[in-house]
Amino acid sequence: MNSSAKHRAHHGRGGAAPPYDVLVIGSGAAGLTLALGLARHARVAVLSKAALQEGGTYYAQGGVSAVLDESDSIDAHVADTLAAGAGLCHEDVVRFTVERGPEAIGWLVELGVPFSRMTRSDGSEVFHLTREGGHGHRRVIHAADASGRAIESTLLERVRAQPDVTLLPDHMVVDLVTGRKLGLDDNRCLGAYVLDRRRGRVETIAARFVVLATGGASRVYLYSSNPDGSTGDGLAIAWRAGCRVANLEFIQFHPTCLYHPKAKSFLISEAVRGEGGRLLLPDGTRFMERFDSRAELAPRDIVARAIDHEMKRLGIDSVLLDISHKPAQFIRDHFPNIQARCLEFGYDLTTGPVPVVPAAHYTCGGVMTDLRGRTDIVGLYAVGEVAFTGLHGANRMASNSLLECLVFARSAAADIRERLADTPPPPPLPPWDESRVTDSDEMVVVSHNWQELRRFMWDYVGIVRTTKRLERALHRVELLRREINEYYGNFRVTHDLLELRNLALAAELIIRSAMSRTESRGLHYTLDYPEPDSTRPPQDTILVPGVGR
Ligand code: FAD
Ligand code: SIN
Repeated sequence: MNSSAKHRAHHGRGGAAPPYDVLVIGSGAAGLTLALGLARHARVAVLSKAALQEGGTYYAQGGVSAVLDESDSIDAHVADTLAAGAGLCHEDVVRFTVERGPEAIGWLVELGVPFSRMTRSDGSEVFHLTREGGHGHRRVIHAADASGRAIESTLLERVRAQPDVTLLPDHMVVDLVTGRKLGLDDNRCLGAYVLDRRRGRVETIAARFVVLATGGASRVYLYSSNPDGSTGDGLAIAWRAGCRVANLEFIQFHPTCLYHPKAKSFLISEAVRGEGGRLLLPDGTRFMERFDSRAELAPRDIVARAIDHEMKRLGIDSVLLDISHKPAQFIRDHFPNIQARCLEFGYDLTTGPVPVVPAAHYTCGGVMTDLRGRTDIVGLYAVGEVAFTGLHGANRMASNSLLECLVFARSAAADIRERLADTPPPPPLPPWDESRVTDSDEMVVVSHNWQELRRFMWDYVGIVRTTKRLERALHRVELLRREINEYYGNFRVTHDLLELRNLALAAELIIRSAMSRTESRGLHYTLDYPEPDSTRPPQDTILVPGVGR
């Protein structure tokens, strides 16, 4: 940070809102679950930098994994998660999460999430469970192919009914206020500087506890299944505040996004393969069996890499996904939204294959937390995709993300409830200072840097990496970050500038993590070290602010 930016974070004029007990940054599955866990115990504010429902959660398709069938078991779910994670999952965390899955699903059902049901041959009605890559059982509960929309809408409706919870859409956090930044001895999190996008001004919001529930960073890549807001804000904000981050080299590329110039990498759920969909080359031959005995239902890292390999080998722009051998009514019932979207682009799942390509989908690493969601800074929590809990290892198993959001948000809420009585309110915080900045005269700098960043991340830090490509990417990102920080120090902040600043920092952290892993494991594959390092036990990549840079 340059000196004028520093100055502005510490002194001057700006708006101050009354303090809350808990400030939740993010209104996806993680943030809303946490807010519901605190309602009636605390005064809570939930912020979203855009519309409240806009975030990764709303777009989730497949569903939530949990042990819900009598032929399944906790041990089996644990074992599948560990296998997908390629030696890096923390087994205690996996067990903690999986054991709490059925209860979390029961809670969602009680709230009224309309999960899909089916009638058994004996006439009884049960939830329909689908299957996805890496799962040895049917264990993904879903609401047709729009599971995220059903969960987000239900949670939001419930939160809106809570008198103690204030919802603040279009409020974007710039940075946290911590004791260290204020020169205090006690380095706890005290609140945040927040850009109110409608009023165009930065407010100071103080709180006894702050929770990052800001989602992932997949939009750091040119092609991504994620909505625009997945720009790694929470990651960057936590890092600037002094938190450690881990395993950021493990960016998951979803194997099957619709290949069409206007489809914006629309996801075609793994459940399509779970229900029998096959991956084909242009000549109609299947190829996944050549790469893994589980074929189309191998974990995502394997399937995405196989597709990338075949595309490069044959010089083709996409492969094909075909489920047209299943009855047309089955396809319409299970995948109504995907079918509707494909039809818009001229593809009919019921009569033939659709072209698909991999795209950046999920950030497996993140801000380091314990089982209660606590980070390195007292009073600061991180839950959901922004967090690194140890659950996903080197490759997240499908539908374990929403599960993690639910389980860890409930755990963090319980921890905050316990600490509320002993935690004093924050002191008055200095307002944001804009006395030394002006309006930007060249927004083109922001949009140009944005494009450049995403392009080189895709080209150099994608599915297949090399040391040379990573070095190139690091060099570029360092230049970009210098330019962006200078801009940040001189001009009034805007939503786009803040996202770019965060995205560039997230990119640098991803590149540095990738450079420090001298092996291939799970989602991190480098031609310079094509095998896992068998000379030592698998290790997390931990980056510490201020160390080694
Ligand atoms: P999100 O739901 O992404 O919400 C982030 C919130 O943070 C938003 O409200 C946003 O506005 C806010 N925010 C971000 N930055 C700031 C800031 N600076 N200031 C204020 N607010 C901010 N996972 C599964 O388990 N099963 C699935 O079937 C599945 N399907 C998926 C399909 C798609 C297309 C995508 C994109 C993801 C899918 N995932 C799935 C992954 C899963 O949806 C996400 O990991 C999960 O929903 C993340 O939830 P979250 O609450 O952590 O964050
Ligand atoms: C999908 O439906 O394929 C996405 C599932 C996930 O990301 O967990």
